[in-house]
Amino acid sequence: MAEQTQAFQINNQGHLEIGGVDSLELAHQFGTPLVAYDVSAIRNQIRHFQSVFEQNHVDYAVSYASKAFASIAMFQLVNQEGGHIDVVSGGELYTAIKAGFPMDHVSFHGNNKSFAELTMAVEQQVGVIILDNFHEIELLQEVLQQQHQHINVMLRVTPGVSAHTHEYDQTGQVDSKFGFDIQSGQAFEALEKVLTIDSMNMLGIHAHIGSQIFEVNGFEMAANKLIDTLAEWNERIGYQAKVLNVGGGFGIRYTQEDDPIAPEEFVDAIVKTVKSETSEKGIATPAIWIEPGRSIVGPAGYNLYTVGSRKDVPGIRSYVTVDGGMGDNIRPALYQADYEAVLASNPTSPISETVRIAGKYCESGDILIKEQALPATKPGDVLAMLATGAYGYSMASNYNRNPRLAVVFCEDGEAKLVIRRETYDDLISHDLSIE
Ligand SMILES: Cc1ncc(COP(=O)(O)O)c(C=O)c1O
Repeated sequence: MAEQTQAFQINNQGHLEIGGVDSLELAHQFGTPLVAYDVSAIRNQIRHFQSVFEQNHVDYAVSYASKAFASIAMFQLVNQEGGHIDVVSGGELYTAIKAGFPMDHVSFHGNNKSFAELTMAVEQQVGVIILDNFHEIELLQEVLQQQHQHINVMLRVTPGVSAHTHEYDQTGQVDSKFGFDIQSGQAFEALEKVLTIDSMNMLGIHAHIGSQIFEVNGFEMAANKLIDTLAEWNERIGYQAKVLNVGGGFGIRYTQEDDPIAPEEFVDAIVKTVKSETSEKGIATPAIWIEPGRSIVGPAGYNLYTVGSRKDVPGIRSYVTVDGGMGDNIRPALYQADYEAVLASNPTSPISETVRIAGKYCESGDILIKEQALPATKPGDVLAMLATGAYGYSMASNYNRNPRLAVVFCEDGEAKLVIRRETYDDLISHDLSIE
């Protein structure tokens, strides 16, 4: 029977504690389903990344990939820690503006940014626009002309490295919808094009080789390839990159099956590779930027659910149903992501059965955890799903017209509501009557 090995805090009443707050009190005060973040865990992870760069004496930016979880409070928290953010849509950018986030610390990504989105980014003078394709170079040129503006740009390239991870998460290989391919010469062509455009300041290159990666060698290979490319560009036309952005993708522990190294160890390996390769190739070491999303917010997040109905299928299995599901965490249904859950009132109590944890949505595939070892549960018990902080709330939907859940930040024993639960009125707020 599976054992529960996730690290979590337990208070002196034996309850799961999140950021010093009793999880049962959170469920009681804010209702379930609920996302609760341990804010210190987020701060610590950002600081760990930063300290690796400091120790290696390189210029850097830790740019939080906000697709993992974007909200005004989250952006404010990243800013308090001196981090940058990357955004991939007008909506994420708008959230950053409303959070008062410094625009020069924003990178704007995306493989199909619209004219309107590029206009917004230029008006806001974001730190850098990461160009993904030739169409976008032209669009941005038009926007810059219209606004009589300049902007920093980088090229997203595909280094042809496919990291060892789940198929859907791979974005670094040649056969990808993202970026300019290095091998075929597309990336060099894009560089030459951008260098002819006076309104664009070509900062450097970016690559993201995948997500939930557990092995460091994929990053080392990518870093090698990127430095080779920069050395070649330097030799051919004297181009010198100021920034090398190696993306995110550092794997985290969702279940006991996962055994990742600490996220900052990936960064240490990347930095060392970049330093040694650049010195070997005789080019200046650029600033190194990273874009971790999952590793910053994933382990810090907990989804709290209340147990409701139960179905025992004789000789097959038991289903324990909770008051949320695929509407607040689509990852298990979308790509068979695995999680673990504990009983919030007593996370270490002896296991008595293995059950399937089902959601309340009208889809057979709405299963949150296929096999979870648990003590006996009853309706009203609170279950805490662990490591749900990344790509959970940010992919939440209103499927079955369920209101989206609330999010709280917990730190030093205090809980603060940072996204309020949607109401039924919110749900119909965009509906128009035909009568
Ligand atoms: C360009 C880019 N940067 C960063 C990330 C963040 O990846 P992760 O959350 O796995 O660290 C992603 C994720 O898809 C991405 O596409």
